[in-house]
Amino acid sequence: MFAVEIAHLTKVYGQGETKVVAIADASFQVVPGELIAILGPSGSGKTTLLTSIGLINEPSQGRVVIDGQLLADDGWLPGVDLKRVRREKLGFIFQHHNLIPFLTALENVMVALEINGHSRAAAKARALELLAALNLSRRPHNYPAALSGGEAQRVAIARALANRPKVILADEPTAALDTENGKNVMAMLKQIAVENRSAVLVVTHDQRMVEGFDRIFEVRDGRIVKESKG
Ligand SMILES: Nc1ncnc2c1ncn2[C@@H]1O[C@H](COP(=O)(O)OP(=O)(O)OP(=O)(O)O)[C@@H](O)[C@H]1O
Ligand SMILES: [Mg+2]
Repeated sequence: MFAVEIAHLTKVYGQGETKVVAIADASFQVVPGELIAILGPSGSGKTTLLTSIGLINEPSQGRVVIDGQLLADDGWLPGVDLKRVRREKLGFIFQHHNLIPFLTALENVMVALEINGHSRAAAKARALELLAALNLSRRPHNYPAALSGGEAQRVAIARALANRPKVILADEPTAALDTENGKNVMAMLKQIAVENRSAVLVVTHDQRMVEGFDRIFEVRDGRIVKESKG
């Protein structure tokens, strides 16, 4: 079974003179454990592609299937609890870490587990394990403001991984980091794909960051114009 399958996905914003075709007829499939890069210039539709797959942005046309479940078919499928699918099957990582500023690193990760029904004790144990795996054992009680950019991004990754999502969607996760931290984050995403058997889709416009990816999709004006090996 595919982790992600899109078919003839199209997203149009606005209408009339302000109409923008942000994604036009995109189709691909991603298997569990695959690491995919989505490359393209600013405005080419990368974020729209990711948020459409991520059930944040309603597709205008085409299908979105996550982990075998049809979720959009020319618009959302009626009767689907999108929030629940998002919470249980997807993990998001953004350019800026989006951590909750008044919670510590540990609490930021625990929240993701507690809203999915884990007890406080179980959430704490799993969060500590995740932070350790991301080299953050020494920082569990720091607030986001007291973390470096790379550390904060790793906490955000820990949070995205908390519920062992089938699909991880990362939008420019290295853009706010220096090259070394950026490469570390990419290496971690690769490891996660392999070890957790998650499909990991990473948007970037930095060609240097996609070394070792399984496949690279290049997007121009809303179209996937090229697919290559990493
Ligand atoms: N909410 C929106 N309403 C109208 N147009 C939008 C909206 N979001 C994006 N667009 C337009 O859709 C196109 C694709 O935008 P998108 O944000 O997906 O590009 P991107 O490749 O992620 O760019 P960047 O690299 O700058 O983040 C652009 O022309 C953009 O102006
Ligand atoms: Mg974008």
